[in-house]
Amino acid sequence: MSRIPDSFIQDLLNRVDIVDVVDRYVPLKKSGGEYKACCPFHGEKTPSFYVSPVKQFYHCFGCGANGTVITFLMEHAGLGFVEAVKELAQAVGMQVPQEDATPEEKLVAKKRAEVEALDLPGVMRAACVYYRNQLKHAPHAIQYLKKRGVSGEIAAKFGLGYAPDGWHALQAAFQDYDSNPALIESGLVKEREGRRHDFFNDRVMFPIVNQRGAIIGFGGRVMDRGEPKYLNSPETVLFEKGRELYGLYQARQSIRDAGKALVVEGYMDVVSLAQYGVSYAVATLGTATTAHHLQKLMRHTDHIVFCFDGDKAGRKAAWRALENALPLLQDDKRLDFLFLPDEEDPDTYVRHFGREAFEDLMARDALPLTAFMLRELAAKSDLQTDEGRARLIKLAQPLITQIPAQALSLMLRKRFAELLGIGSDELDRLLGIRVAQSRYGKPRSKPALPHSGRRQAPSIERKVIEWFLRAPGWAQHVALPQWEGDQPEMQALYALYAYLVAHPGLANAAQVLECFRDSPYEGTLRHVLGAAMDEHEGFSDEEAWVELTDAVSRLERRVNEQQSRPFMAEKNLSPSSLSDEDKQIWRQLSMTKLRSEG
Ligand code: GTP
Ligand code: MN
Repeated sequence: MSRIPDSFIQDLLNRVDIVDVVDRYVPLKKSGGEYKACCPFHGEKTPSFYVSPVKQFYHCFGCGANGTVITFLMEHAGLGFVEAVKELAQAVGMQVPQEDATPEEKLVAKKRAEVEALDLPGVMRAACVYYRNQLKHAPHAIQYLKKRGVSGEIAAKFGLGYAPDGWHALQAAFQDYDSNPALIESGLVKEREGRRHDFFNDRVMFPIVNQRGAIIGFGGRVMDRGEPKYLNSPETVLFEKGRELYGLYQARQSIRDAGKALVVEGYMDVVSLAQYGVSYAVATLGTATTAHHLQKLMRHTDHIVFCFDGDKAGRKAAWRALENALPLLQDDKRLDFLFLPDEEDPDTYVRHFGREAFEDLMARDALPLTAFMLRELAAKSDLQTDEGRARLIKLAQPLITQIPAQALSLMLRKRFAELLGIGSDELDRLLGIRVAQSRYGKPRSKPALPHSGRRQAPSIERKVIEWFLRAPGWAQHVALPQWEGDQPEMQALYALYAYLVAHPGLANAAQVLECFRDSPYEGTLRHVLGAAMDEHEGFSDEEAWVELTDAVSRLERRVNEQQSRPFMAEKNLSPSSLSDEDKQIWRQLSMTKLRSEG
């Protein structure tokens, strides 16, 4: 894959000021050392969207949206990474170079650029208009929707349409049907032996709309028996199934009003629920719920309810959603799991029993994530025997240690310990989790800060990450203790440290973050920086240095204690030299870092 060289991104970030760029889209007001505005990513009346000129980073304390100036253009203006970089470069008169491209990669990049130059959104829009019009002339499709309880109003809200029978219906919508390359690239038309034909035939059409309201694909349902029941557009440059949620565009306001989002499995579930007044539902597109889906939803709400069928497949899908959610958990987020009675899906349930019954069920029966997790874990092992309980701890270890939310993790471990009939300290030791932080060092006293009520005291590793991001050059001057393990925030810290030591000269947090874009550590780094958005500004360099070295020595004490524990020895974690560790972290980082989109 061809990629934009890191050094170019760093130069670019030196030349561009996030305050100027954001201000063009969202007028900013100066407030202390920072700038603020009403957040453009969620609706609000008092500003909680902050932009820091020092960190070159924005963060919203309301919805958690945050990132660098590149992230801002990607998320606010809807640009891809490469597009965002190009746009910024253009504004300051820089030319984006491409690096290390093999001929094969160049070909792929060229092809992609060609596709991006085509008007796929326009073609999708025209097809949607055409399908919607066709619905008016298709009595059997109208009949089908009526039978399923869909009103004209709801059909219009979701842009439902009809793809006529026959292989060349779209000829009526596109004069250049036989030559327009965008029709092929959009997946609406297929080519076989030089002849073109429509992809969708005699199906009820559900347009799939992205967050910005652009049509990026379709789902088509057969009306009688027929295979497959749903046919979905192929993935294109516009459409990536693991990232999109059906109905999110229509549901945004209702999600805000309801204070929650409901995640269901099917197109018809979303449409039927909306028909009955539950308009805060979205569906995954025939895939598992991914971390991308969850991150997207968490920008809109702190409360997500997953609704699955009560059968085995439903439980399995729910477990996959749980696994993907664990690394994203925060103490102010709430994730619940609702299982419907056998034989029901949200569509049939709401039609049989109505909105009130559905919402009552949700209020009464939805299991909080921790309860669902413990229930499933308990079902996987025999709690009556020592062997069964030991196995259970092994099963739970990788799950529990992924949870960054401290209070939630603590609660979960307490309940888990009760379930096992052991003390929670014993459990923590077995899980390799550090015990209460208060043991190490005195509580920190700091000047009172805005929003401090929302926050918990950050862990030591978070503190060190914070200070490294505030002043990336300082990593050169401190030595972290040797450490190995799989605790995510510690891994992020060590990856950051190794990177900073190897790359002197990074000036601010944004430059560092861009080096970690799409790495497994990006989320943690962004989160830590966001939570500390309005801190640090008041510290002098001397005070900051004291804070950093203090945090490092606390970290050292903790690591020393932990690494000498029997459990760690059992896991065969022999200490290795820091440089080996660096290498390992490096390998991990470079393998997972997929910067390029071109
Ligand atoms: P209805 O029968 O219309 O109520 O469908 P449903 O929404 O209840 O569908 P179901 O629970 O069977 O499937 C849930 C989702 O999985 C659908 O909305 C589709 O996104 C996807 N899906 C279902 N069947 C197929 C299929 O045959 N092919 C593909 N590609 N996706 C499917
Ligand atoms: Mn259904």
